[in-house]
Amino acid sequence: MANNITYKDFNDEKNYTAMASEVMAIRARGDVPLACIRTYGCQQNVADSEKIKGMLSDMGFDFTEKAEDADFILFNTCAVREHAEDRVFGNVGALKNIKRKHPSVLIGLCGCMMEQQHVTDRLYKSFPFVGLVFGTHSLHRFPELFYNAVTVGKRVYETGVDDKTVYEGIPTRRDGTFKGWLPIMYGCNNFCTYCIVPYTRGRERSRKFEDVVNEARDMIRAGYKDITLLGQNVNSYGKNFEEKVTFAQLLEEIDKIEGDYWIRFMTSHPKDCSKELIDVIANSKHISSHLHLPFQSGNDRVLKAMNRSYNREKYLDIVNYAKEKIPDLSLTSDIIVGFPGETYDEFLDTLSLVKEVGFSSLFTFIYSPREGTPAAKMDDPYSHEEKTKWFAELLKTQEEISAKHCAAMVDKVYKVLVDGKSDKDGILTARTSGNIIVEFPGDESLVGQFANVKITKARHWILNGELV
Ligand code: SAH
Ligand code: SF4
Ligand code: F3S
Repeated sequence: MANNITYKDFNDEKNYTAMASEVMAIRARGDVPLACIRTYGCQQNVADSEKIKGMLSDMGFDFTEKAEDADFILFNTCAVREHAEDRVFGNVGALKNIKRKHPSVLIGLCGCMMEQQHVTDRLYKSFPFVGLVFGTHSLHRFPELFYNAVTVGKRVYETGVDDKTVYEGIPTRRDGTFKGWLPIMYGCNNFCTYCIVPYTRGRERSRKFEDVVNEARDMIRAGYKDITLLGQNVNSYGKNFEEKVTFAQLLEEIDKIEGDYWIRFMTSHPKDCSKELIDVIANSKHISSHLHLPFQSGNDRVLKAMNRSYNREKYLDIVNYAKEKIPDLSLTSDIIVGFPGETYDEFLDTLSLVKEVGFSSLFTFIYSPREGTPAAKMDDPYSHEEKTKWFAELLKTQEEISAKHCAAMVDKVYKVLVDGKSDKDGILTARTSGNIIVEFPGDESLVGQFANVKITKARHWILNGELV
């Protein structure tokens, strides 16, 4: 079992939050210190940024979207594909001018990219105006690192690998008031051969059962109506506990909390998505009818080379069981096109699986080699142009399937959670339990509320509706 340490115990030895707050009161350019936090990557990073904002709030910070106005600029980075990394390097380069104009500004980088030595080496050499760098394992130490970076006058680089501990009680400043993220575990033990995440997030560790349930209860009491439980592989929740609990049991317990709310979760790994889990969803009151179950490839040889530990048959078995048990199930998935050595015929297996399952939507990616992963050393004979053609074929196929899905929803009534206003006057946007977007005319006061909407029209993957 992972160690559990509370943030308060950890940070109370020396109160860096209070010390940083005193320094920033003097150093701020305006009346209050301002921070601009930009988040790349997945929901784990969004949840981490909400913790950083919580810690900054305790230091007296307010927040701005405009980097030019900020006293502290922080990019929370993602390393999952080359494109994500390139964007970060490009955007950091652009901050040089701000630092030149306002030398007191602290520029920082954190997140997954910072757990890669070759990245921090490059930053150290080429971006001397970056004053603070810390990785995913140092989040709980943020007040101390921040304080050192603004007082010591030297660059602070902290990328230690403490992946054995779960830090509880880090203050959180959530971006939303009715939709929220709830991390239940950290890290990943799966080592899919293409993936950098196990290297940047460390080994899998779960939060205690009661800590998760209590946080869910607190969120529901505070008015959260759409809560997403987060982990790289939520189905292996609790595996490292002495007394084993399953993710299905965790869901069952949260589902007992009184209130009007939806629970979602991501991501599920097909290798340990159990029928017990599907049964819990089917019998629950609050668990949304949405299953995000990435299959990556429909070909068994490629799945093996990816180290995914399931095959096409097993995937279809669980998906068919879920379709049978959960009414109105919305299935989504992640797919990688052009894994090293994947042939066109093997890609066609992916395409046929897409057709066979009928996903409501897909997240599709062209394979991107990641330094340090086994796949990066594999022979990769097909050109990017070739892979791009296959990719386009996949997108076109899915577009037709998504459109069919949406068309089948017309004339039915769905409970939706109203997200906000659309950019069209008087039109609200909402999401169904299956996470499909619906637009309908309505009053702004409905934002953050559940409503019943009859679907009147389907346009590709967006639905139009009217209140009933
Ligand atoms: N833990 C989750 C996904 C994390 S990364 C899971 O196992 O499903 C999100 C998605 O990015 C993955 O599902 C995969 O489709 C994609 N991905 C990860 N590494 C990639 C790479 N090197 N190239 C292209 N896509 C990648
Ligand atoms: Fe990456 Fe695989 Fe872990 Fe998902 S399960 S984070 S794809 S190694
Ligand atoms: Fe990116 Fe890290 Fe998430 S690499 S996808 S931000 S876990």
